[in-house]
Amino acid sequence: MEAEQSKSKGWCWWLLVMIIAAVVITQTSLLLWRNFDKKDSGNFHQAHGPINDTYANAFSIAMQFFDVQKSGKLVNNKIAWRKDSGLEDGKEEKLDLSKGLYDAGDHMKFGFPMAFTATILSWAILEYGQQMQRVKELEHAQESLKWITDYLINAHPSENVLYIQVGDAMLDHDCWERPEDMKERRPLTQVNTSYPGTDVAAETAAAMASASLVFKSIDSTYSQNLLKHAKELFAFADAFRGLYSKSIIRVQDYYNSSGYGDELLWAAAWLYRATGEESFLSYVTKRNGDSFANWGSPSWFSWDNKLAGTQVLLSRVSFLSSKAIPEEENLNLQLYRKTAEIFLCSLLPDSPTATSSRTRGGLIWVTEWDTNQYAMASAFLAVIYSDYMFNSQTPTIYCSGKLYEPMDLREFAISQLEYVLGNNPMKMSYLVGYGNVFPQYVHHRGASIPLNAKTGCKDGFKWLNSTDVNPNIVVGALVGGPFLNETYNDLRNNSKQGEPTTYNSALLVGVLSGMLSTP
Ligand SMILES: *[C@@H]1O[C@H](CO)[C@@H](O)[C@H](O)[C@H]1NC(C)=O
Ligand SMILES: *[C@@H]1O[C@H](CO)[C@@H](O)[C@H](O)[C@H]1NC(C)=O
Ligand SMILES: *[C@@H]1O[C@H](CO)[C@@H](O)[C@H](O)[C@H]1NC(C)=O
Ligand SMILES: *[C@@H]1O[C@H](CO)[C@@H](O)[C@H](O)[C@H]1NC(C)=O
Ligand SMILES: *[C@@H]1O[C@H](CO)[C@@H](O)[C@H](O)[C@H]1NC(C)=O
Ligand SMILES: *[C@@H]1O[C@H](CO)[C@@H](O)[C@H](O)[C@H]1NC(C)=O
Repeated sequence: MEAEQSKSKGWCWWLLVMIIAAVVITQTSLLLWRNFDKKDSGNFHQAHGPINDTYANAFSIAMQFFDVQKSGKLVNNKIAWRKDSGLEDGKEEKLDLSKGLYDAGDHMKFGFPMAFTATILSWAILEYGQQMQRVKELEHAQESLKWITDYLINAHPSENVLYIQVGDAMLDHDCWERPEDMKERRPLTQVNTSYPGTDVAAETAAAMASASLVFKSIDSTYSQNLLKHAKELFAFADAFRGLYSKSIIRVQDYYNSSGYGDELLWAAAWLYRATGEESFLSYVTKRNGDSFANWGSPSWFSWDNKLAGTQVLLSRVSFLSSKAIPEEENLNLQLYRKTAEIFLCSLLPDSPTATSSRTRGGLIWVTEWDTNQYAMASAFLAVIYSDYMFNSQTPTIYCSGKLYEPMDLREFAISQLEYVLGNNPMKMSYLVGYGNVFPQYVHHRGASIPLNAKTGCKDGFKWLNSTDVNPNIVVGALVGGPFLNETYNDLRNNSKQGEPTTYNSALLVGVLSGMLSTP
């Protein structure tokens, strides 16, 4: 009783003190948050130069591939030969997995590369959304991203379960049909605590964390939901470690993962950018950095390996963050930046450490399968890094005795773009629908089958075999690309060179968005 009384005596004062404290705290945190928001939700790069119409045109074309690949009940569909499909996907587990994008020329929904597509698209929007807005494509980009993240949210029904695939590759590849006509079973595949998938769960966390920044100022509830999923998935990925392609052997034939350390660092780096929480910075700079970052040894950026992307993303912190970072963490942050620069130096064609992995015409060339992916991924990192340099007034990078300016990185990116858009020995654009000459026999079911065809699963193969050009133009597809000797066989059964993927288009869209205007 006594205690009660003395409490009520001082009550007024306490209330006043608490109100003042609350106001001060909210104001300060709002202020901090706003500053952080302004910096970290992107559009850093204020490019006021004129819009380059050539690139603006290529950009609008490339963006259309996301519309072509959409599964589900279509909204405002602009692709004349596409309709609703995959409406039952997920039903057998009482989930709605009808959205998302078909991976490539087939109708699989592979979660690992689809999430990577989303992360790249988010990154492009965060850095270059302002330029996208100037060419009236920002909403289109946001909406394409949301088509994937809506799917990813539904694919994560509880903390430690993530559905990573819709469709069975054997059943799917046994048919040649339009997505609208699919009749085969589309089973679901999940990772969980007994069959973990650190790589795929962490990539999905990266996609959701980056997308949470994109949607922060548009739909804060959606953004917070994405962040919640991202954090849960990251915790799941980290606690139950294993390669998804070891847990589920049959995925090895398509998207075999070579490691999960890169995805853990990539996801933590995105979560750091999305939240500013110290724990994510320590994650990448301390023990897990030591184990997985491979400092000093560059690697190609692709759906399988995110290290180069992580290095560039974390370089941003040392270039642009105003926060004080503890000494030990800062040392390792510098190692990320150093490794990014070793990678970038290798891309510059006249640098002392230039890679020999390129064609005579100058295209970065890594594998016979889908080589354009590596060229576009390299160009995307180069243009982002050049803009981090511009924005932080960093005049040069050092490459074994020679100094290079941000403009050199940008010129490298332009050289890769120009090549894929037609300045190459085949005198052909590898971006479908762009220019006068582009692949006519793209390995893509929907594009190869006339709208009025009555064929089904098996007899549909006559369209794969047909020597006629594709009846539908698969606008925005970026095909796999040339051989090392710079030849390209435009044959429908040539999936090595002639199959497009969603991440190819995301990477190309990323490079183009950085080129829409001049720094
Ligand atoms: C715009 O892009 C075209 C096509 O590659 C290029 O030739 C031209 O120099 C660019 N213009 C500007 C102003 O950057
Ligand atoms: C966990 O995932 C594996 C591999 O996808 C699957 O076979 C198994 O049924 C899942 N476990 C549960 C409890 O659903
Ligand atoms: C998948 O990668 C693992 C190594 O990570 C390798 O042992 C395996 O042979 C690969 N599978 C296929 C089908 O290439
Ligand atoms: C398509 O060609 C393959 C061999 O190239 C053949 O086995 C198959 O019967 C053909 N299918 C149709 C429907 O023409
Ligand atoms: C180019 O390379 C491909 C793949 O290695 C090969 O099949 C083709 O014969 C080569 N073409 C020429 C003209 O050398
Ligand atoms: C691919 O198609 C071409 C012509 O359409 C044909 O000559 C070739 O044999 C086919 N290759 C395979 C592996 O089916």
